[in-house]
Amino acid sequence: MWKQFANQWALVTGASTGLGAEFARQLASHGMHLVLVARRGELMDELATELHTKHGTQCLVITADLSSPGEPQRILAEIAAQGKTIALLINNAGFGIVGEVHNADVDRILTMIRLNVSALIELTYLVLPEMLQRGRGGILNVASLSAFQPVAYMGAYSASKAFVLHFSEALHCELRDLGITVSTLCPGVTRTSFFDIAGAPGWLRKHAALDVDYVVRKGLKALSRRRQHCVPGWRNFLLTLLVRIASRRRVVKESMRFFRPQPPGKHWRRSRRRFF
Ligand SMILES: NC(=O)c1ccc[n+]([C@@H]2O[C@H](COP(=O)([O-])OP(=O)(O)OC[C@H]3O[C@@H](n4cnc5c(N)ncnc54)[C@H](OP(=O)(O)O)[C@@H]3O)[C@@H](O)[C@H]2O)c1
Repeated sequence: MWKQFANQWALVTGASTGLGAEFARQLASHGMHLVLVARRGELMDELATELHTKHGTQCLVITADLSSPGEPQRILAEIAAQGKTIALLINNAGFGIVGEVHNADVDRILTMIRLNVSALIELTYLVLPEMLQRGRGGILNVASLSAFQPVAYMGAYSASKAFVLHFSEALHCELRDLGITVSTLCPGVTRTSFFDIAGAPGWLRKHAALDVDYVVRKGLKALSRRRQHCVPGWRNFLLTLLVRIASRRRVVKESMRFFRPQPPGKHWRRSRRRFF
């Protein structure tokens, strides 16, 4: 599959850091050129220089806040104006929010939904017509282990990722005979800035986590094998089976132990258990 994508263009959202930057690195090593999208342009410029030096990768850096309406169209228009065609879309940008319902910041929650859900859908539908015309293309949507169940204190986030998983799995089946692969990557806890941004600083240090290079490798392998979804890590995979057997009430109650906000001065409990 990677031979087929060599010298073609991939669009990676959330490419300034974390999983997105690693997607860019691994795709560049497969010979792809990259459109990098996120808000922090300087980080993407540095990444573009690194990839050009290492692999001769051409990069187009587009600074954009994907939670703002109209940004997906602007990005695709800029790509078209440069005469580039997207062969692979990695919808990775996203963030989570951990917190109690009575402290909820509704504006921030809606911003999260616009990023995690609306921008992902819009970018998907914007790149699809060209892919359908060519009869080939790939889309990898990043959901989460939390897509498989409701998660207390992260209700809106887990629901947004359930949306991503359901939407992407439906598209996978609709498009697979038309030459287009849509796969969903559902990572469990991974070493990035995700939990600091979500409002649970220090949480990552107390829990077992996977490395970004492993998670990204698994995601790209799933895409190349035309798999519907992928859950990196066998313990995470087992969890997705367990939540199907356990009662729904039990599943949500268990999740409360992981994300119940800690009183000031108290740190997140150490646990070797993986969640998402
Ligand atoms: N790490 C985990 O444990 C974990 C687990 C399950 C799922 N995930 C999912 O994995 C994906 C990547 O997250 P990560 O772990 O790599 O976290 P991260 O290190 O915080 O990276 C998030 C990326 O999204 C970009 N981003 C955030 N808001 C944006 C906006 N409004 N517009 C454009 N780009 C934006 C950030 O760039 P800028 O700040 O420069 O805009 C950054 O590049 C997310 O969808 C997340 O939900 C992560």
